Amino acid sequence: MARLAGFEPTTPWFVAKYSIQLSYRREVRIISEPGCAPLLGVELPRRRIPAMALDAGAGFDYAYAGTRSHPMRPMTQSMTTLSADAASMATGDKPGARTRLPVVVWLLVCCALIFAMVVVGGVTRLTHSGLSIVEWQPIVGTVPPLNEAQWLETFGKYQLTPEYLKVNHAMSLDEFKGIFWWEYFHRLLGRTIGLVFLLPLLWFWRRGHIDRPLTLRLAGIFVLGGLQGAMGWYMVTSGLVDDPRVSQYRLTAHLAIALAIYAATLWTALGLLYPAAASAPHPRLRRFSWIITAMIAYMVVTGGFVAGIRAGFAYNTFPLMNGHVVPPEIFMLDPWYLNFFNNMATVQFDHRLGAWLLALLVPWFWLKARREALTPRARIAVNLLLGMLAVQITLGISTLLLMVPVPLAAAHQGGAVLLLGAALFANHALR
Ligand code: HEM
Repeated sequence: MARLAGFEPTTPWFVAKYSIQLSYRREVRIISEPGCAPLLGVELPRRRIPAMALDAGAGFDYAYAGTRSHPMRPMTQSMTTLSADAASMATGDKPGARTRLPVVVWLLVCCALIFAMVVVGGVTRLTHSGLSIVEWQPIVGTVPPLNEAQWLETFGKYQLTPEYLKVNHAMSLDEFKGIFWWEYFHRLLGRTIGLVFLLPLLWFWRRGHIDRPLTLRLAGIFVLGGLQGAMGWYMVTSGLVDDPRVSQYRLTAHLAIALAIYAATLWTALGLLYPAAASAPHPRLRRFSWIITAMIAYMVVTGGFVAGIRAGFAYNTFPLMNGHVVPPEIFMLDPWYLNFFNNMATVQFDHRLGAWLLALLVPWFWLKARREALTPRARIAVNLLLGMLAVQITLGISTLLLMVPVPLAAAHQGGAVLLLGAALFANHALR
């Protein structure tokens, strides 16, 4: 083991290879290229990692990494680890565990923020605050009104809307501020999520913590987030016309995209956290859990319509709907298919039907899972799914019976996110 005497780094980072003198030159050259990626503390260009891995196979004896200010700092990691990591990146595998963990933490933080966003969005809708800001200014809109004149100007714009003219014409400036802040906070949280997603994404990509397929997938999720912002505004515009109520279709699409972004982010985090499939996978149980996940997605969509046409204010009895298992008016509208989107009886019936089905399927799934030799993680996930379903159904029934009080309805909206998360977690653990 010897140091490369007299080696003067001319680049910010380098690795010197002792045993094969000829190739260390090449590596120094490689490493000096711009766009270097860190690998166990060593900066490596991602494009050249296959070559690096080949050399690693030939055997590193020692490595040094340094900067101009701190030259020739010996690496602390063993070369075996370095080689294994380089090789796994060369074959296109996921980055090593050390580089994965910060990415996982970041993605889980994003999931938590999306959860908060869904809850705040629910409160914004339930407090009828969603139509208070009548412009979409992604950057300028970050600054709220700061003085009385600006408040009056913002209120003045709201006073021209059908919602003010037809519903809130007696509203004072102070009351307006109440609805303004919810909508403002919802939008501000959206911008924050955008930044919390984008900036680390760029950093991780630039430093090579995430490989190309993962970068593309995360970029796709980011684009979906941008579309979600646009969808939110598209939804608001539907309420700025004669009838001051947002379209139930757009509201449902807005809710469904939020949960799709959450699901994709969580799934990606789970994939990085548990990269290896279980040694004894459970394909049949896993198919079952896909059906449950699809049913939860169905509940999100039907729930969106219940919220969108305010069907939670009708049929406030359980288990019967005003004395009927199936209310007679469910096919009242013509053509028949409009009932699924516009008829309170049908929309609420569909939502209840899904809940009943889940109330049968999830315990059945749980019983089947108990008979199998599951990993501790899968067992926790399956129990979590059952528990979360019980909570969500209880919240749903309470919301209905008490005629949609804001805290309960917001908890029910947030509960849907957690239930979906539990189903994805179970599905992932059963691989
Ligand atoms: C089984 C799981 C369930 C899921 C995943 C689910 C999901 C949802 C979602 C995503 C919404 C739209 C957002 C919101 O809460 O306002 C919603 C609305 C609603 N759900 Fe459920 N739900 C479930 C069960 C139930 C049950 C059992 C009932 C009652 C029988 C119920 C009653 C309602 C009501 C009344 C609304 C409208 C609340 C509002 O206007 O804000 N839900 N549900």
